[in-house]
Amino acid sequence: MEELRVVLSKAGDISPIKSSEYVSVGGYEGLRKAVEAPEKVIEFIKASGLRGRGGAGFPTGLKLSFTANTPADQKYIVCNADEGEPGTNKDRVIMEEIPHRIFEGMAIAAVAVGADQGYIYLRAEYPHLKKILEEALADAREHSFIGPNIVNSGFNFDIQLFIGAGAYVCGEETALLDSLEGKRGEPRFKPPFPGVAGLWGKPTLVNNVETLANLPAIILNGPEWFRQIGTEKCPGTKVFTLSGNILNPGVYEYPIGVTIRELFEDVGGCCPNGKKLYAVQTGGASGNIIPPSLLDTPMDIERCSENGATFGAGDLMFIDEDRCLLDVLENLIEFFEHESCGKCTPCRTGNPQLLALIRKFKNGTAKQSDLELMLELGNVMVGGCLCGLGQAAPNPILSAVRFFPEVFKVNNNYERGAS
Ligand SMILES: Cc1cc2nc3c(=O)[nH]c(=O)nc-3n(C[C@H](O)[C@H](O)[C@H](O)COP(=O)(O)O)c2cc1C
Ligand code: SF4
Repeated sequence: MEELRVVLSKAGDISPIKSSEYVSVGGYEGLRKAVEAPEKVIEFIKASGLRGRGGAGFPTGLKLSFTANTPADQKYIVCNADEGEPGTNKDRVIMEEIPHRIFEGMAIAAVAVGADQGYIYLRAEYPHLKKILEEALADAREHSFIGPNIVNSGFNFDIQLFIGAGAYVCGEETALLDSLEGKRGEPRFKPPFPGVAGLWGKPTLVNNVETLANLPAIILNGPEWFRQIGTEKCPGTKVFTLSGNILNPGVYEYPIGVTIRELFEDVGGCCPNGKKLYAVQTGGASGNIIPPSLLDTPMDIERCSENGATFGAGDLMFIDEDRCLLDVLENLIEFFEHESCGKCTPCRTGNPQLLALIRKFKNGTAKQSDLELMLELGNVMVGGCLCGLGQAAPNPILSAVRFFPEVFKVNNNYERGAS
């Protein structure tokens, strides 16, 4: 399958700062079209079938309609640029190379829902992006693409940059909103959802960087054009992040439905030094780990979940035969234990227990009852945690037990007390 750039079209070819260069490649034309017929924007996005690119795959048009249909004196657009998932770097590249496309997407969404203020919530670990985004925002403001009376339309919409404090949980949309409000970032109970009661209790559209960056092309080229790309239930392209034991790690945009094998062999260039592929972690640090026998799985939300893989934010980490899967799992659970906000018990106490159990397998002292406990605990966390962090943290372990049972050796001697 061929690379196809929609979100990253012209990225790297033009200045990320100067709106004039973005305009020279058709930039802000989608916004001009949107302000002429704002009532059509949501209809277009719904018809396009666009789904959120931040991990959950929620239909974007539907989300826009929730915020649009909630009456309020003030509404907000929030661009989720927290990108804290280990192994995900695609939003960073979009922001580094073509930030005006994100501003344009935010402005289109603002016109559609009736918001006049937007925020970009940027992860603290991307300090170099502060300068790029601030300069690009100043340029967009100077040329009336944001600010009062955008593109001479009578609409006002400004964007403010907000830098997080380095917590993975603040990528979760409601923790992000608490953080934006100046509070400690902890997930809220839902409902109400942000679209109805979000930032300072006002209707707030929270979307991922890549999702928003898709809006200009959809408005400009129409939903039918968008639907020709990708798969029936997941139209469009995806900006994938490939990492781990491959020759060409990086960020690549392909139509949704490209197989993991194509991304591994043709794009990633296979494992270096002729090593064999042992496993692939799909969908980020909290995604499922699958064996090479599933390489022909298309990267599409439905097909991934049918096959036991995770689509997530489109990350694939390749693991070669020299890696120890238990080391990988230990590293992942250490991350979740560290990043748990502690608000709910199954996550706060479950992650340290999962970590202790993985370490038992590592040092050869795990009993059959430890394996059973690990599975039970993992399933309790999936069903009982308040937010996606705790709900998804056991996924790597649960999938590894399913697909790589040979890794979880039980020490029967130890069970009899004779270690
Ligand atoms: C722990 C956790 C971290 C998350 N981090 C991000 C993130 O960095 N960026 C993002 O867009 N969504 C992240 N999400 C998903 C958001 O809660 C939300 O679904 C997303 O921003 C919605 O945008 P979308 O519909 O455009 O995908 C995270 C969710 C959880 C549970
Ligand atoms: S699941 Fe974890 S991160 Fe999410 S609210 Fe509970 S303790 Fe916090």
